[in-house]
Amino acid sequence: MTRGRFITFEGIDGAGKSTQIDRLQALLVERGIEVVRTREPGGTPLAEKIRALLLADDMCTMSETLLFFAARAEHIARVIEPALARGAWVLSDRFTDATYAYQVGGKAFDGAAVEALERMVQGQLNPDRTVLFDIEPLVAAERLAKARAADRFERESVDFFRRVREAYLDRARRNPERFFIVDAAQSPEDVSRALLTEAQGWL
Ligand code: TYD
Repeated sequence: MTRGRFITFEGIDGAGKSTQIDRLQALLVERGIEVVRTREPGGTPLAEKIRALLLADDMCTMSETLLFFAARAEHIARVIEPALARGAWVLSDRFTDATYAYQVGGKAFDGAAVEALERMVQGQLNPDRTVLFDIEPLVAAERLAKARAADRFERESVDFFRRVREAYLDRARRNPERFFIVDAAQSPEDVSRALLTEAQGWL
């Protein structure tokens, strides 16, 4: 059995990832591919409990980072690795690039410490492809304000999201073969067109 592909989706809050992941999932399923759709933090019962803590409770950035990696360790062991091993494609709404963007870029947590945790928790596992939904933070904030009540991360300042966005773009510049950047300020239809055209090349 050929190993499946591991695709991750990133971007600041309000970039409109979910709808687009739905559309990609539909395309892959149409092609007869088994798809496991998942998210971080979360993806297993324990990791979803950690997610609830992370989104609601105030904590220091050290605890926050360690909890993201604890949830990730569960997610990898119970969902991601088994799925890839049986040939399924895993579509994850966020993964470790989010830790580099939010904790390192947004909150100035130590990047070398995150690298060490990344290697400890992931071993050789890395996403095959990462789609970055890039958008100006003010535009994203307007969308979010209309859509739902803000969680702990979504209440951060526009300056915070500017740092997160820059950290994502920096990750993309350093890993050009893995990242596909899509302009998420376009209409949802135009974003889908760009994403699905790119995804044809992965098949
Ligand atoms: P997300 O699932 O995108 O939130 P929502 O369902 O509200 O769109 O992610 C939850 C939040 O967690 C999001 O603001 C980004 C943040 N996050 C980090 O700060 N670090 C991480 O490593 C991950 C995976 C997410």
